[in-house]
Formats: sequence, C-alpha cells, structure tokens
Amino acid sequence: MNYNQEIESLKEAIEKSPDNLPLRTMLANKYLHFGRLEESETEFQIVLNYDSNHVKAKEGLGEIYFRRGKYSAVIVICEELIARNMASERIMTLGAKALVRENSIDQAQDIYEKILNANPDFEDKELDENLRMPAFPLDNDDYDLDEMFGDGYDGIPEDKDFFLEKPDISFKDVGGMDRLKQEIDLKIIKPLEHADLYAAYGKKVGGGLLMYGPPGCGKTYIAKATAGEINANFISVGISQILDMWHGRSEKNMNYIFEVARRNTPCVLFFDEVDALGASRSDMKGSSGRHVINQFLSELDGADANNDGILVIGATNAPWHLDAAFRRPGRFDRIIFVPPPDDLSKQKILEIILQNKPKESIDFKKVIEYTKGFSGADLNAVVDIAIEQILIGAMKSGFPTPITTQDLITAAKKHHASTRDWFNTAKNYALFANESGLYDEVLKYIK
Ligand SMILES: Nc1ncnc2c1ncn2[C@@H]1O[C@H](COP(=O)(O)OP(=O)(O)O)[C@@H](O)[C@H]1O
Ligand SMILES: [Mg+2]
Repeated sequence: MNYNQEIESLKEAIEKSPDNLPLRTMLANKYLHFGRLEESETEFQIVLNYDSNHVKAKEGLGEIYFRRGKYSAVIVICEELIARNMASERIMTLGAKALVRENSIDQAQDIYEKILNANPDFEDKELDENLRMPAFPLDNDDYDLDEMFGDGYDGIPEDKDFFLEKPDISFKDVGGMDRLKQEIDLKIIKPLEHADLYAAYGKKVGGGLLMYGPPGCGKTYIAKATAGEINANFISVGISQILDMWHGRSEKNMNYIFEVARRNTPCVLFFDEVDALGASRSDMKGSSGRHVINQFLSELDGADANNDGILVIGATNAPWHLDAAFRRPGRFDRIIFVPPPDDLSKQKILEIILQNKPKESIDFKKVIEYTKGFSGADLNAVVDIAIEQILIGAMKSGFPTPITTQDLITAAKKHHASTRDWFNTAKNYALFANESGLYDEVLKYIK
C-alpha cells in the first residue's frame, strides 16, 4: 500500500467513526510524516476538540509549530506536558531547542537536564553544543563520587581522568624564576609537608597563591611543575571553562572540581584566568555569576569541607579585573608578579627547549640580545621558526643541518615580543590604580 492509499483508507475509516481518536491521531501523524502540515494540524485539532488533554495530539502540534518556527507555541506545549509529567523525550527536545532559539538558555538547560536524567545516552548536536561542553561529562544533581569512583577509591580511573594529571615536569624544568620557586616552596609546599608542625604552632595553612603577569611567562608552567616537584596530582581549569561548561550549572562544576581535588590529595588545583570570575560579577547577567563566585570562595575557604593537602594556585593576565574579595586572608592572600624571564632565565629556557634537538654549540648571550621583552612562549616560538627555516633548507639541499646561533638570531628578528602590550596596559593601572600597592612590583620592573 502506498502512502496515498494508506491515507485514503484511514480517512474512510474515520468517516465511519469520527470519534475514534487513535485512528485520527494515526492519520494526523501520517500527514505530519509526509510534511503535509496543514492537514496534520487540522486532524490534531479535531482530536483535541474531543479530548483537550490528548498528549499525542499536543506533541504532534508541537512538532508542527516547531517546523513552522512558532517557538513560543512549542514552549507552551512542552511546559504543559512537563507539568503534567507526560512529556516525551521528543517534545522535550523540541521544547529545549525552541528555548535555545529564543535565547532562554536557563530554561533550556532545565529541560535538557530532565532529558539527560531520563536518558543519559541522549545526544543531540544542537542541544549538546549550546548547553553542554564536552570536556566535563559529569554534572548532575545527584552525582556521588563514591559511586562514581567506587568504595576504597584510590585514584581516578583512567576513563575519568579528563582533567586530573600527574605532571612529569618539576622545578628543574623551569628556567630561572628562583624567587617564585622559593616563595612557592616556603608558602605552600612546606606547609603541606609539615602540616603537623604548623598546627602545633597554631599557624593556619590554606589559602592560595595568585600569580599575575604578561602571558607566556610561565605561570601555568610553574604551577604544573609545583605539582611535579612534590609528586602531587594536578588539576588545571580555566575559569571560563567552568562558566561555559553548562550554562547555569557553574557552581556545581566548581564544587565538583574541589571535590575531586579533595579525593586526590596531595593535589595542586590550578585556576587559570581567575579574573574571569571577578569580571563576571558585573558582566554576567542575573545571579549565576555571583553564585559561582560565592561557590568558589566558600570552596576556597573550606567552610563545609576539608582542604588539607590541596594547594590552590591561581593565575591571571588581568589582575585589575580581580574582585577584591579574592584577596582577603585565607584566599589569594599572596599575590606574586611573574615578570618576563631575565637573561639568565632566558638562557635556561632556551637550553631546556633545545635539549634534545640537533644543534651546534650556541652562543646564548648573542641570541638573547635579540629577545628584548620576549616571554618563555616567545622563546618557544623562536626555536620553532628556526627549525622551520632549517627544514625548508633541508628540503632543498637534501640534508638537515643542526641549529646554529645564527638560525636563532634570524628567527628572533622575525618574532615580535608579546609582552609589550601587557606592560602598556599594566602601567596605567600601576600608576593610577595602585591603592594597595598591588602593582609595586610592576612599577619596579618597568624602571
Ligand atoms: N621559566 C620557564 N622555563 C621553561 N619554560 C618556560 C618558562 N616560562 C615559559 N616557558 C614556556 O613557555 C610556555 C608558555 O608558558 P605558560 O606557563 O603557558 O605561560 P602563562 O601561563 O604565564 O601564560 C610554557 O609552556 C613553556 O614551554
Ligand atoms: Mg597560562
């Protein structure tokens, strides 16, 4: 039977028993299936005239309205069915999409969660992209770490180690930065290693260390090396990551991350772009921004939980956007400026980068003359450029040559220092908004 015949015989049957709603619904769905929206709508409406609570008819209408772009009608139908506890995955999906398209993300999120709770394997490109980021699969009202990781849990199972790592670098891999290493050692490693001693003298451990400075100068790198230095776990999260992961669910994410750290001590918990939190206070609409800040602060304060064995390190390129609440005692009460590497550090960094690469003996002093204002990342770029040039040459000549001093100088000349813009901005803050002496180190450095 082709679809015309099917429809004809359905119509015939309905003529004989107009109040047979299953038949009429079948017909309406047939029309819908073949894109005959108008006829479909008419039939669904008739069904609803007989039974104003008819779920299938409402779903069908929802589908029709969605295809016509009448999103507010879809939303009304979806919410009514949810309220009656009769909503199918299909109608909730349409409702969530309609909300996304109308830019009501928070409400869309609520429905999306209901779908996921009922069906954890649910996938939908549009909803996944708009309402969830893939990096953090775990976020659920009732997540339970014991259940997730098993009793007597030691270590995160492999498939769950999406952001927990055990770094293989330590302080010896960090060029220069001696003062910072010393500070980290004294202020956060020692208290961790000698927690009892600190307790005996009633000295409170905790709080975090915040690094700020131009990009590419090793903040992330040294945080990671700190974990390696004490053989601790390392969790690195960008604040914007937390804010993006799930719209409206940031507090849970924040709590979850701290919870994982608490179960994997010793652990260095590294927050990048901390300024994104501060900025979010005023920028983010509604209460969600404030909620995540408060969640962050209360996790950091360890109000409801034990933070022993957790080292919190934060980093920001824009300390001027930092909320003052972060700087209170017990929070980021140690703030350290991370300058671009000095000449000795630059040499160390270059040596580390060139470690296992074919090279002649390099006159580092000469190379460094051409790297004014270069960050560690810039130095990485210099070596990359030099190697590219060598490879191009090797393809012509047929044999590769080791890296020379001249190669590095040529490459350095091609690269622009990336820290200058930062100092131009920082200078203004240092000169005009240096209330608590926060930028003294920057001023000292500029001179
Ligand atoms: N002191 C350093 N020693 C070794 N490598 C460094 C150093 N500083 C920066 N680097 C290199 O530069 C890269 C960028 O540094 P990163 O820590 O990401 O900068 P930031 O977090 O300050 O923006 C690092 O991955 C590392 O390869
Ligand atoms: Mg970084």
